[in-house]
Amino acid sequence: MSSPRSSIQFVLNNQVITVDFNADTELKPTTTVLNYLRAMPFHKGVKEGCAEGDCGACTVVIAENNEGKLFYKAIDSCLVFLPMIHGKQLITIENLADSGKLHPVQQEMVNHNGSQCGYCTPGVVMSLFGLYKTHHNPGREIIEDTLTGNLCRCTGYQPIITAAEHACSCVDKDKFKLHEAEISGLLAHINTDKSPIEIHTPTRQYFKPLTLQDALNYRHRYPKAIIVSGATDTALRQTKKNEVLAEIIDISNIAELKYFNEQAQDYKIGSGISLEELKKHAAGILPALHQLLKIFGSLQIRNLATIGGNIGSASPIGDTLPLLMAYKAKVRLQSADSGRLLWLDDFIKGYRLTDIHADELITAIHIPKPGQGFITLSYKVSKRKDLDISTVSGGFSLLLENGNVKEIILAFGGMADHPRRAADTEHFLTGKPWTRPNVEHAMKILFHEFLPLSDARAGAEYRSLVARNLLLKFYTETITPGQ
Ligand SMILES: Cc1cc2nc3c(=O)[nH]c(=O)nc-3n(C[C@H](O)[C@H](O)[C@H](O)COP(=O)(O)OP(=O)(O)OC[C@H]3O[C@@H](n4cnc5c(N)ncnc54)[C@H](O)[C@@H]3O)c2cc1C
Ligand code: FES
Ligand code: FES
Repeated sequence: MSSPRSSIQFVLNNQVITVDFNADTELKPTTTVLNYLRAMPFHKGVKEGCAEGDCGACTVVIAENNEGKLFYKAIDSCLVFLPMIHGKQLITIENLADSGKLHPVQQEMVNHNGSQCGYCTPGVVMSLFGLYKTHHNPGREIIEDTLTGNLCRCTGYQPIITAAEHACSCVDKDKFKLHEAEISGLLAHINTDKSPIEIHTPTRQYFKPLTLQDALNYRHRYPKAIIVSGATDTALRQTKKNEVLAEIIDISNIAELKYFNEQAQDYKIGSGISLEELKKHAAGILPALHQLLKIFGSLQIRNLATIGGNIGSASPIGDTLPLLMAYKAKVRLQSADSGRLLWLDDFIKGYRLTDIHADELITAIHIPKPGQGFITLSYKVSKRKDLDISTVSGGFSLLLENGNVKEIILAFGGMADHPRRAADTEHFLTGKPWTRPNVEHAMKILFHEFLPLSDARAGAEYRSLVARNLLLKFYTETITPGQ
């Protein structure tokens, strides 16, 4: 491993900023990008509303270089530790105007009265800027998806949507386009140095490897350190629970973990791929996964959150888990000197508990290519459709042969301390005709198969009823007409 350094670099206002945590006693490695900006004299536009990824008032845009082209992403700065923007361009509301001339998204917000009290406005404008840089003439669905992570209590959204339509109808000729080659050159230069970053302060140690091998070495040396990939789960431990995250291994910049490969038998997915990237790859080939990711968090969350983080959290309501079980997914685990492949069902052991060893990382997920005749669907029941966590979720797969159930997987989230399959119900249905009487009988078994919790989201009986009815829904969506 090459010798570590203690500073990070990123681009702000077209300049490379170097932050040396070991020299700057004011900054901690777990200082969020939001708090870093708010402490600066000229970046107070960014706001804190919730500090948990729900309101979007803290939205900023980051740009990443890929072979001379910049890719822009809106993110919630309240969830991002400062070292996570190493090697990226950070763009805030103060950067948008060009020599006093408003950026098109700002101008259209003015033209269409998109702002009233203004508290949400910088975040909204940054989301629209992200949209402007990634879409030309986006449809209503894309605009609404862009704004899902931005709460506005005053305007009612229509003026903001109209502003988005107008701004994104013009050709992208803003100052960022003009400076693209220069900025991507700066980022490429920063990213050539792959030596790891190590930050040691009296209360915190932060390790930021830039290669997989270095990450595995750190994992070996610091087995108790918290792994941070997208930080959308982990950051809340600090912002909401006031925990001191004393030891972190940040794997968010490891390019070797960000891929989606189609292989002969399966899709191999790097654990560090963002859920938004995964959503794009899944379109057309894994439709249930694509549909599920469309209602996962918000765009700002999906731009950060990773598939490895969703699996690693092992939350009882982790949305991808039941569906990945229905797909018969496997998890690839790697340590510095060995690797293994586990069924996801076996990997998830209990409440936020997995079978990972202290020196391992999740490096990939394998989803077998759906076999001929296999139907896989996903369901999420939550209090509202967007930006909400599940009350109950289901990932179901079915293979019929001559009208009989040859194979069925019924995996549920929100029904136990961890996502798991309804083994008794599956057993009852296997080999039987896929008919309504059989499914209704199976619903009775299912009702008694789980003892779900009652909590603020729903009572136990409600959850059992929902699970039962999801099975009926699955039946009605998979029978051939006239059956
Ligand atoms: C506003 C908001 C909305 C959300 N909406 C949803 C939702 O709709 N559905 C849902 O399921 N979740 C949701 N979440 C939760 C969270 O976004 C997801 O669980 C996400 O997938 C976590 O990924 P991450 O990369 O950010 O994880 P991180 O916070 O970086 O990591 C979480 C944990 O996973 C483990 N981990 C991460 N990567 C690895 C790895 N490569 N190897 C081993 N362990 C690893 C670590 O132990 C870490 O402690 C939401 C969160 C917020 C804040
Ligand atoms: S402050 Fe609300 S999303 Fe960040
Ligand atoms: S303008 Fe007031 S919250 Fe959006």
